[in-house]
Amino acid sequence: MSTPSTDPRVLVADLRADLQAANYTVDGVGALVGDVASAALDREQSLPALRATEGSSDPAAVLLRVTTLGRAVTRAALDAALPRTGTAGAERLGLVRAAGSAPEDEVKPLVDLRPYSVDDAAGTAHWWLVSDLGELATGEALSADHVLGVGGASLTLASATIRTPVERVLDLGTGCGIQALHASRHSRRVTATDTSERALDLAAVNAALNEVALDLRQGSLFDPVEAGERFDLVVSNPPFVITPRTDAVPTYEYRDGGMPGDSLVQRLVGGVGEVLAPGGVAQLLGNWELHEGQSWSQRLEEWLAGTGLDAWVVQREVADPALYAETWIRDGGQKSGPRFDELYTAWLDDFAARGVTGVGFGVLTLRRPLRPGAPLRRFEENFATLSDPLGEVFAAGLAVHDRLAGLADPDDLADLTLQVAPDVTDERFHTPGDPDPRIVLLRQGGGLRHVAQVDGDLAGLVGACDGELTVGQITAGLAVLGEEAVGEVRTRLYPRVRDLIADGILLLP
Ligand SMILES: C[S@@+](CC[C@H](N)C(=O)[O-])C[C@H]1O[C@@H](n2cnc3c(N)ncnc32)[C@H](O)[C@@H]1O
Repeated sequence: MSTPSTDPRVLVADLRADLQAANYTVDGVGALVGDVASAALDREQSLPALRATEGSSDPAAVLLRVTTLGRAVTRAALDAALPRTGTAGAERLGLVRAAGSAPEDEVKPLVDLRPYSVDDAAGTAHWWLVSDLGELATGEALSADHVLGVGGASLTLASATIRTPVERVLDLGTGCGIQALHASRHSRRVTATDTSERALDLAAVNAALNEVALDLRQGSLFDPVEAGERFDLVVSNPPFVITPRTDAVPTYEYRDGGMPGDSLVQRLVGGVGEVLAPGGVAQLLGNWELHEGQSWSQRLEEWLAGTGLDAWVVQREVADPALYAETWIRDGGQKSGPRFDELYTAWLDDFAARGVTGVGFGVLTLRRPLRPGAPLRRFEENFATLSDPLGEVFAAGLAVHDRLAGLADPDDLADLTLQVAPDVTDERFHTPGDPDPRIVLLRQGGGLRHVAQVDGDLAGLVGACDGELTVGQITAGLAVLGEEAVGEVRTRLYPRVRDLIADGILLLP
């Protein structure tokens, strides 16, 4: 093994080369530990992967054990797994701490370092991400300045993000930098901000390790944005967790911005329009409180009032106050016991004080419109299991909204030749013995998996949308069949046709 460099840039390049040579990639680790242990790791369960790598000197096994599973390895084993960097180089980079310089001395991890793969329009990339060690490795509650690795919410936002090539992106609350790294693949310049100095340090390591240039800035919310700066895309997986503001409850910076209730998300929604370029899009995750006598969308409408932004909000989950409190107390690594109950009481008191009946979670897509006019307001509740990347769905949905806005006259719709989207199937439910269906459902197979219930003649109209007949011709035929005036059929069906187009069930030419 060569003597490791003292230049951090050389050390990072050596580390990258070592990780590549060790095949320490998502696929490499998958092949090493097998599907069962990989799936268990995704659930933050380490035991199957520990068993699969026990006693192995495979470099990827040594790296997985020390940097993800939090186990000590010998200095000799790590030197062999990282031949260019060596244990000494890994120590200089702040990745591990060795008990001594002898080959049999123990080396323990200081951070989590795991592979991550991305497959998008720019191709496939294999990255490595440094973050703080989680409960999986330490078995302990998280520290208040913990820097999160890639979690479920990170992946939700990455999947929802519109990946149209743009000039400038802002990743607000970058953490280890995952959203910023994704954005670097379709943007010329990425600015990534965080209040946490430690998060920015780790994001800088990840940017260097993955050969990505990031403009990193420290500060809260929009403070790091300079006067006049505008972004084509803002992404944020913000610290949205609603947390009681009492001394008894720790503030975890990675998930809690230190503000009461859901006001941090409210401030993001209210302020993001100021930093968006015309036509620019902001995609955010958020929690919002549900209050007696107010629907979830009314609360978001209030936040959006006066911003002039288009808004498409998908509520993906709703939790009652007790379930919400339990979830986030456990997320902090707290096990059942008196301390758990103390925190639980604080959460329930906080919710009761504001009359909170539940908490919604969802994805917000906001846009600064290019032209004046009534802004888009689309609020949908969608608890379906979604597996496709949704960025293209949101991009297509915004484009369809713009086209529909230009088709305000009913005659505009009548002239269109529509087609049923290829992933749509029709499900019919009959009362036994009755030849006519009682319920017809149009079900999207992908994207947001919309389901629309349609009655007889709307089902007929959709079925006739073959890309050749116009909506007007189909409507005229239905009017004859139903012995009804064409105008009445139009009045009844056209608003529903617009909804089906907006949902992506019917496609515009
Ligand atoms: C949930 S983590 C998201 C990390 C990463 N972007 C991702 O998608 O996984 C939220 C991040 O916001 C940061 N943060 C907390 N308060 C903030 C604030 N007021 N302004 C900006 N960032 C903040 C935290 O330090 C943390 O890194």
